Amino acid sequence: MSRLLRPARMLLLGPPGSGKGTQTERLRKQFEIPGISSGDILRRHIKDGTEIGQLASSIINQGKLLPDDLMTKVVASELRRRHWLSPSTSWLLDGFPRTQAQAEMLDAQELGPANAGMNLVVELQVPEDAMLDRIANRLVHVPSGRVYNLTYNPPKVPGRDDVTGEPLSQRPDDDPAVFRKRLNEYRASTEPLVEYYKNSGDVLWSVAGETSDVIYAQLEREVVRRFGESVDESADNGFGGCWSGRLAFVNNN
Ligand code: AP5
Ligand code: MG
Repeated sequence: MSRLLRPARMLLLGPPGSGKGTQTERLRKQFEIPGISSGDILRRHIKDGTEIGQLASSIINQGKLLPDDLMTKVVASELRRRHWLSPSTSWLLDGFPRTQAQAEMLDAQELGPANAGMNLVVELQVPEDAMLDRIANRLVHVPSGRVYNLTYNPPKVPGRDDVTGEPLSQRPDDDPAVFRKRLNEYRASTEPLVEYYKNSGDVLWSVAGETSDVIYAQLEREVVRRFGESVDESADNGFGGCWSGRLAFVNNN
């Protein structure tokens, strides 16, 4: 068991299928940190038929990126709605920022003024074949963003979400030709972002591995090293293990 002792504001970066959503979910459960995924927000807009959803649908299906200013507005309003723009909060971002322009806008307009800068940027490195194989076998529950894989973590009932029992679907951009375009977009737009964070103090940390289990073990160790501590569960303190991490930081979901 591990817990946070200091606020952790993290970004997960990585190509399509590298496991950003999977690792975010595991960190959320382990450290009780709330998180948001820009892709999940857009998929909910598409499902609800909003104006943003109509624009996003065709762009996503072509494997391209949405305009930087629009994405920054969408995510910034979510950060404000959740009261995350404060130095005492902990949170996880999956998929935003993914261009240098987005990072600059987020830092200058939102995080900097709130004294709530990102303090860990994780770059996931996974072999290309593994990523392609994973997205071919991926199913998602759009309302929650929960992700399944037909071989790695299949749903308990085939085709149904474990929590709600609602139907799962395949993402329209999870097709080999669109995957290739998303990967090219990643290389062109997101790799300069890694350089940006390299020059932003000691925030960037890269991790490589074939499987999400191998990566998660290293990631958890790094989060503990920077922001927390491991808790010996056999030493019962009478408070159920990780009370201080739960009370120290207020996160509104
Ligand atoms: P987004 O939804 O963020 O897609 P992505 O970046 O392409 O990443 P994915 O969600 O495909 O992969 P992931 O890394 O989360 O992997 P996962 O954990 O699911 O964005 C979609 C689109 O929205 C973009 O293309 C763009 O158009 C737009 N967009 C979003 N943000 C934007 C922004 N900031 N600016 C502009 N446009 C933006 O894992 C993949 C699969 O692998 C799953 O099935 C999982 O179960 C499985 N898996 C995980 N670990 C293992 C393992 N060890 N073994 C086998 N399978 C595994
Ligand atoms: Mg994802």
